[in-house]
Amino acid sequence: MSRPAANRPAASRPEAGRPEASRLVVVSNRVALPRETRAGGLAAAMHAALKEHGGLWFGWSGKRVPAEQRELHRESARNIDYALLDLTREEHEAYYLGFANRTLWPLLHFQPTLMEYSRAQYAGYRAVNRMFAERLAPLLREDDCVWVHDYHLIPLATELRARGIGARIGFFLHVPLPPPAMLVNLPCHADLMATFADYDLIGVQGRDDAQALLDYFLVQNSGIDVDANAGSITINGHRTRVAPFPISIDTAEVAQESMAAVGNATHRRFLASLQGRKLAIGVDRLDYSKGIPQRFKAFGMFLDRHREWRSRVSYLQIAPPSREEVPEYRELRTRLERIAGATNGRYAEPDWVPIRYVNRSFAQATLAGFYRVAQLGLVTPLKDGMNLVAKEFVAAQPPDDPGALVLSRFAGAANELPQAILVNPYDPDAQVEGIEQALTMPREEKRARWAAMFEYLSTHDIGAWRRDFLGALGTG
Ligand code: F6P
Repeated sequence: MSRPAANRPAASRPEAGRPEASRLVVVSNRVALPRETRAGGLAAAMHAALKEHGGLWFGWSGKRVPAEQRELHRESARNIDYALLDLTREEHEAYYLGFANRTLWPLLHFQPTLMEYSRAQYAGYRAVNRMFAERLAPLLREDDCVWVHDYHLIPLATELRARGIGARIGFFLHVPLPPPAMLVNLPCHADLMATFADYDLIGVQGRDDAQALLDYFLVQNSGIDVDANAGSITINGHRTRVAPFPISIDTAEVAQESMAAVGNATHRRFLASLQGRKLAIGVDRLDYSKGIPQRFKAFGMFLDRHREWRSRVSYLQIAPPSREEVPEYRELRTRLERIAGATNGRYAEPDWVPIRYVNRSFAQATLAGFYRVAQLGLVTPLKDGMNLVAKEFVAAQPPDDPGALVLSRFAGAANELPQAILVNPYDPDAQVEGIEQALTMPREEKRARWAAMFEYLSTHDIGAWRRDFLGALGTG
């Protein structure tokens, strides 16, 4: 249960409006070290935010070691200090592979039928959060501003408060939040959800997510007061604000990288391989929430119905494997190989393959070059908190002849990019129509749609996201 604000050391709660005094402390499971070329959406976004602001980044080291060899690794690069903690194999299994990614991930992505739950794994998740707090607490200063990220670390504020930490603590949920009727499928929902009340600010991607959180506390009647109009929850005199802060990208950087890619050898080779054909592109972690099987099938249907496009468009799907120790992810990989193989077997010509399916990751700068060449971006998740690929695709387009974006209505990005061709990913006919509309859209219309999206992303970029969140938290 959350620790009442009244019991916290009042002297250590900084006042708002002393931004120069605050150090930013970011806590996330995944940390992007500067030498790493590839990072997920969260890690890449946090790296961009910390690069500008400076501060401490605390998280998992990515290593699994026997308990007696556990270390807290410290290093600094440019503006950022890193503190990275090892996990044991058992902790990683219960906390990351288990509760975070087999219980919370499917549930939060509106797929409760894929949810696997065990009390032991929830206990393991809570234990890792406790250990993170134990190791982080001694590194914290009174006037730090702590920013915790994502579903792996929901109870972290509760654990920090229990150790007397009175600093401002904000939380950002990168993934969606389903309505209460779905959340209550989680056997430990009451215990877990109560820990949200120990944050000062909870940021979510969209309005629906904020509403879902407030609705949960309203219908649960758990002793937490809800002010739905103000967007806040209160317990024992401690108020937590809940608000949407849609995450974004470094728009200027992606645009610049896409321009810079044009002359390089990889880019030229890739362009030559297309032999003047149009390109559709999808880039997703290999995850069942991304709707890749549905997309592959829709592309097959498109070729079926539109013979005139056979041999004239190639679809490049980049899908780096992810969470491979989780069975549902392995099954997805096998399923996709089957569908891609069947589609290619059916339609390929000696000099043309409809689906180029690539299971590896690429640096952001290389991807920016690939996006630039594509006339069509396919971003059709079944459910997604935001989806930064949609935004990167737009940022990377050439202004004089931009491509069109086919975007799932169920990605957070759809709220911000209404000029995309919005589709329901569960509707194969709608996807086929979307692909056709994108490939045949007049250049003027593409330009107008793209210009509106690019202008929006130029002001609503990663810097604005960080400033908005930290401003609302009372620092920054
Ligand atoms: O979507 C949630 C998220 O944390 C992303 O921000 C990130 O790209 C992805 O999951 C990374 O997953 P993992 O750390 O399990 O590889």
